[in-house]
Amino acid sequence: MSAFRNLQLPSKSFALGRSFFNRTSVLARRNMSTEQKFVQAPHKLLVIPGPIEVTDEVLFANAHPSMSHMSLDFAAVFGDCIRMTRDILYSKDAQPFLIAGSGTLGWDQVSANLVEPGENALVLHTGYFADSFADCLQTYGAKVDQIKAEVGGVVNEADVESALKAKKYKVVTVTHVDTSTAVLSNIKAIAEIVKKVSPETLVVSDAVCAVASEEIQMDAWGIDVVITASQKGLGTPPGLSIVVASQKAIKVFESRSTPVTSYYASWKKWLPIMKSYESNTASYFATPPVNLIYAYHASLTQITTGSVSLQQRFALHQAASRRIKDAAEEIGFRSVPVSEEVRANGMTALYFPEGFVASDIVPRLLKKDVVVAGGLHGAIKEKYFRIGHMGVSVIDPQRGDVDKVINALKETLAEAKASKA
Ligand SMILES: Cc1ncc(COP(=O)(O)O)c(C=O)c1O
Repeated sequence: MSAFRNLQLPSKSFALGRSFFNRTSVLARRNMSTEQKFVQAPHKLLVIPGPIEVTDEVLFANAHPSMSHMSLDFAAVFGDCIRMTRDILYSKDAQPFLIAGSGTLGWDQVSANLVEPGENALVLHTGYFADSFADCLQTYGAKVDQIKAEVGGVVNEADVESALKAKKYKVVTVTHVDTSTAVLSNIKAIAEIVKKVSPETLVVSDAVCAVASEEIQMDAWGIDVVITASQKGLGTPPGLSIVVASQKAIKVFESRSTPVTSYYASWKKWLPIMKSYESNTASYFATPPVNLIYAYHASLTQITTGSVSLQQRFALHQAASRRIKDAAEEIGFRSVPVSEEVRANGMTALYFPEGFVASDIVPRLLKKDVVVAGGLHGAIKEKYFRIGHMGVSVIDPQRGDVDKVINALKETLAEAKASKA
């Protein structure tokens, strides 16, 4: 099947309050000349916790004709992306870095630019991704301590306070939503503890699975670095590493006494490039993912100027999450997160009911065109599965994605039960 069913009239259109391509004249011209609307081909519903479903507008923007990354037109689009990224995190002056790569590159950026070899890092562990971040920090010479939560839980705040009193840490890292457990950490509360006990320590949030599905008030909460990527709540195809650093973090970087320990991930290289693009002038260190920037621009425009406000977006994620979790628990699944307060809103992790395994459930969902993800956390890998519910799947009710997931879950479990009867 072709990936695109190009230039067909849409059966339904995504309602936006303002003109979709209202940011740059180049995009506006391109849209106006396209009288028929691009519609992506029918496909299985992708509800893994990233990559997620993307809108037709985003996919069409990715199909932008090739552009010079040094052109003024492209620089203006890149500059918009920097500004809109800041808006989504409610920040006035934090510095976004938009670099070709995936979320993992954010760990490298923090490890290579903010932590000098031999310095201490404290990693708050709520699952798989904290182990990887710790591994990355160690690769660059950091001395890493971890505070580990029980599976499905968050770390004890009193333990964080004691650890900070016992040792000087350059950074504390916290996974905002751990994608292996669907556990939501309270990054605001963690940041408050850090500010109280060790104000010079930088608070780094791995928010790869949280940005645009969970509220993040970067300035107000005192978060120093937010790490994310294009393919989850930001509703763009994979391939873009997005890191946002507070001015405090930038000062810490600028005053380091040893050289940055990476070439490609060096903010020495990237900071002037980002500043240049933000002033709508192109500048070169390494080629940016030009088409992906157009796609990211399209998605950011929908998120920041669409008919759904940012606050409404978060509320819609909460509502969809509640519906899916309630429906699943009603029929016998159990959430991996141990309590309501620590459940993420953009994804769900569910233990299989007693007597059932992944092969009873996941392939049956796939047959109903619903693509979910298997277990990832080593301790419980075979016992659970994961569903993503971020972005357009929860923002546009006309798509019926949430209903489709709930109905497929119900039918699947009934079939699985019948097959064992
Ligand atoms: C919380 C978290 N951190 C980091 C990553 C790594 O991101 P990527 O796979 O884009 O490199 C992921 C990926 O799913 C993630 O969920």
